[in-house]
This record gives sequence, structure tokens and C-alpha cells, in this order.
Amino acid sequence: MTKKILVSVAWPYANGPVHLGHIAGAYLTADIFARYNRLIGNDVLMVSGSDTHGTPVTVTADEEGKTPRQVFEESHALFLEAWQKLGISFDLFTHTDTENHWAISQDFFTRLLQKGLLYKETSKQIYCENDARFLPDRYINGECPICHFPRARGDQCDNCGNVLDAADLIDPRCKLAKPNEAHRLVVKETEHFYLDLPKFEARLLDYLKDKDAYWKSNVLAFVRNWLQSGLHGRAITRDLDWGISIPLDGYAGKCIYVWFEAVIGYFSASVEWARNRGTPDKWKEWWTKSDDARTYYFVGKDNIPFHTIIWPALLLGYDENLPLPYDVPANEFLNLEGRKFSKSDHWAVWINDYLKAYDPDPLRFLLSVNMPEFADTEFTWKEFVRRNNDELIANWGNLANRVLTFTYRNFDGRVPMPGELTDADRALIAKSEAALAALGDALGRVRFKEAIGIAVDLAREANVYLQTTEPWKTIKVDRARAATSLYVALRVIDNLKVMFYPFLPFSSNELHRQLGYDGDLLGAVKIETFKESSRAHQAVVYEPGKHSQKWTPSQLPPNQPLREPKALFKKLDEKVAEEERAKLGKA
Ligand code: MF3
Ligand code: ZN
Repeated sequence: MTKKILVSVAWPYANGPVHLGHIAGAYLTADIFARYNRLIGNDVLMVSGSDTHGTPVTVTADEEGKTPRQVFEESHALFLEAWQKLGISFDLFTHTDTENHWAISQDFFTRLLQKGLLYKETSKQIYCENDARFLPDRYINGECPICHFPRARGDQCDNCGNVLDAADLIDPRCKLAKPNEAHRLVVKETEHFYLDLPKFEARLLDYLKDKDAYWKSNVLAFVRNWLQSGLHGRAITRDLDWGISIPLDGYAGKCIYVWFEAVIGYFSASVEWARNRGTPDKWKEWWTKSDDARTYYFVGKDNIPFHTIIWPALLLGYDENLPLPYDVPANEFLNLEGRKFSKSDHWAVWINDYLKAYDPDPLRFLLSVNMPEFADTEFTWKEFVRRNNDELIANWGNLANRVLTFTYRNFDGRVPMPGELTDADRALIAKSEAALAALGDALGRVRFKEAIGIAVDLAREANVYLQTTEPWKTIKVDRARAATSLYVALRVIDNLKVMFYPFLPFSSNELHRQLGYDGDLLGAVKIETFKESSRAHQAVVYEPGKHSQKWTPSQLPPNQPLREPKALFKKLDEKVAEEERAKLGKA
């Protein structure tokens, strides 16, 4: 039965490129899941976009002497390039500054307000008299009231890690002040709209009650923690002008909080996708409550409460008929060479830099086998080189290449005709077919390491099979026997191609071609421009194209002409590890 699978992926802040931690946290898992679902014949809609608003973007703009729009447009272009090169196959990767997203976000605001689910309240906020504006937390530095670190941020202290309230900082300073200036900060009252979360409590508990059965333990732990501390109203507007304006008179200088509108992007992007392709109602097939439609949200662990509590509340408030998140398979964090990723310390590997120097699949491989699925993991360049050379190539790339090359040379460039199969031949084929099914089952349950482990193990068994059957030797004495074992090996490799495809789409497509098939296993990632009445924007779109590959056991036809084999992966020099490691921490 064909299912409608919505693959929602966290919207990256458009204040700079994404790094490997973001990729491991959400983008790669989402893509693996989407590709797998397409291969089994489900209808996938995978959406996300640049999160263009809020203080992360304005702070970067101030630091770099640019406008927020410049900052987001530069970042958006980097994201599009990265998704295309890394093969993150969004059906639509748009951004939050489209007319469509503005209109839908304002409609959410208006409808929730009309239904009495928002309320107004005044609170005390820090105001800078020199800049004549309220300062968001990220605009304030000062002494940490807990550990007395002198340069704590308004929202958090980098020294002791405590989450802070800017109003509690000792000797707060305005970040907009030049080094020799002292801005006068005062505490002033300001009025904001709040989401009345307590009103949703009963319905949220009801929604969450069956999730223990299948949500990941790390995600459930976060949700329980949040619920235990009780649900409180949350401000959903801010004193900031870079953002979506409040659709009411009298609120100039205030806008809708970025976290309120960014999550609405999952919905608005689905609507935009349907409209862009001339089928304006088609999004409804995914946004419906049905056993055959499921919505998944791939996000990093810091995003869990927004997707398991706030977003479900907004959906409940907006339209009771919309489906709530079926699963939120959030990952933990990836660390880098023993430390957390940090933009300000230049302790990061930016995906666009990586993709200039290396191929996408080796990274996709490493981040899959070393995914921070249930606990934090670590990226080191040394491990990257080792896994590329000693696992990806030694176990998988060489297996495919050796068998193809030998067959190509000795059997007229065609898949050999097998003779009668031995028990060992049959056993390996049966094992590969069982592995194909088991890997699919693991991906269906969003268990990525388990899934890729099944493919890695099967490749190992295929290597053992070749060591025992030794077609390179038997060909001299029993050509028919060599033909049979090569056929068996090729057929298992054909299954491995499908099993590795969600993780390693580029090399699997290449192998598909070398095995003599035409086209790719699935469609392609493209960049397109879409026009609205006031502006145009570029977006990544997935083009299904023509393809016939399914998640079914190989039927590799004997005599099928092969294409000239070449290596699927490049060996990396050991010194790459030291060179790359040495770049970290430097501007
Ligand atoms: N830009 C935010 C972040 O990177 C939010 C991402 S998810 C969203 O943490 F859906 F809310 F946008
Ligand atoms: Zn100031």
C-alpha cells in the first residue's frame, strides 16, 4: 500500500553555512529516509528551507556590516549548493521570507488569536537608550551572575553553561556599542503576545500517550522533562523589525517570533511545493489524518521541544484536522576533534568547504556509521581517512570493482551465464535477499546505524565468499564454475547497490551504470527559480525523472552488457588527516 510520507527537516538559520554537525543531526538522516521511502514506492514530500529571520541573522549582519537580507541571501545560496552537491533530495527547500510563508504564518497568528489561544502581557526587557530599541538577549553581554565570567551572553554563559535571563546579568553591556562607547541600558515595559500553552495541555498529553512505544529514548527523555516542569505561556512576538510583521495595527517595531513562524514552514513549504508544480491542492494528501499518511520531523536535539510540544500545539490550534508529528527521530550532537563545533572559535568543518575538496559519499558513509543516533559522537579527520580507506574502499568499493573488472575482462564485458548453483551460492543469494529486507525494516523504524551495519556485514560476507570460491583461479580450470561464482557475486553486489543507495547515492548510481542499467536509481536534485508577485527566490527541488529501481531482490539478467568498470571511491592520503586537523581553530 502506497503511503504518503512527509519528511520535514529542521530549517537552518540563514546566518552562515551549515557544518558537519548539522548534517549528522538532521539533513543526512532525512535524506536517507526519503530515498528509502521513494524506492519502496511511497509518495515522499521532503520539505525545509532557510530560516531567514530572528536575531541569529541580525547579529551576524551587524558583525559583518551587512543587511540581514544580504546575510540570508548569501547563506541561502550556500545551502542550495550544499544540498545539491551532497545530494540532500528536498522536494522543496525554500525560505521563510516568501509571500506564501508570510501569509500563512500571519494566518496562523490571526486564527489562534481569534480562537482565544493567544493573550497579551507586559514584561520587563532591557532597552538601550542610545540605540532607542529593546535588546534581544543575544545583544547583551555582561558578568555571569552564577560563575562571574565577565563575558556571558544574555541568553547563556559560555563558561559555566547556565541558561541566563539578560535582566540578571551584572553590569550588562550593549553589544551594538563600539569599543569606546558605553550605552545606557534601562529596564522598560513592553507588551507581547503569548501562546497559551496550558490550554493545550490535555490534548498534548493525549497526543503523546502512545509515543513511548516507538519514539527514540533520547527524544522521550526531553519531552518528559519539559512536561514535568509544567507548561507555561510563551511569548511569540519580539521587539525586532527583522521578521514577519504582526497582522494587527499598532505593533510597528514588533514582529512574530522566529520560532513561532519557522515551524509553520513545514506547512507553508508543502503548500508552496504544490503550487509551484501547478497542483495547488496536492499538499493535502500529506496533511491529512490517515493510517496511510505519516509526518516525520528530522531535527537536532536542541529542537526537540519545539517539534514535540510547540508545533503540535500550533497545529491543534490552527486546524484540528491536521496531523500531528508521527515521529521526531532527533539525533544527538556530533562533536569535532574532542570539542563542540564553534563558529566563533573557528572550530568547525563547513559543508561547502568539505565539498570543494572531497566527494559526498565518503562523508555520508562516515556520518552514517558514526551517527549520533542515541548519544553524542565525534568526527575526527583521522577516522574519516581510516573509514574511507579501510572500510568503504577495502570492504565495499574494492569488492564491486574487483568483481566487475575481472568479469568485464574475462567474459566479453557481459554478465556471465551461471551454471548450476551450489548450496553456498544459493545461501549467499538468500542471505543478501534477507539482508535487503532487514535493512529496509530498520530504515522504516528510523534506525540508521543498524541499517547500514546490515549492508556492511553483507559486503564482508561477499568478500569471504570470493576468498573461498576464488574465480580468478578456477577460471583456469573450470570456466563454468568461475562464471557461476562471478554471477552470484554480481547479483549480491546488485543487491548491495540498492542497500547502500539511501546512504551512498552517488556511488550506487555509478555502480548501477557499470552493471549495465540505464539511468539512475532515483531522480535528481535541481535548483530552480520561483516567482511571486514582489520577488523571486531560488529553491532546491527533487525531480523524480524516469527510473525503475525498486526495493526488490536483484534479477540481474545474464548476458547484460556491463559498462567499463572504474573505482567507486578515491583512496585518501594519510596526511589529509593532519592537514585538515591543523586548519581547525584558525580564522
Ligand atoms: N533555525 C532553527 C534552528 O536551526 C530552527 C529549526 S527548525 C524550525 O535551530 F522548524 F523551527 F525551523
Ligand atoms: Zn546600545
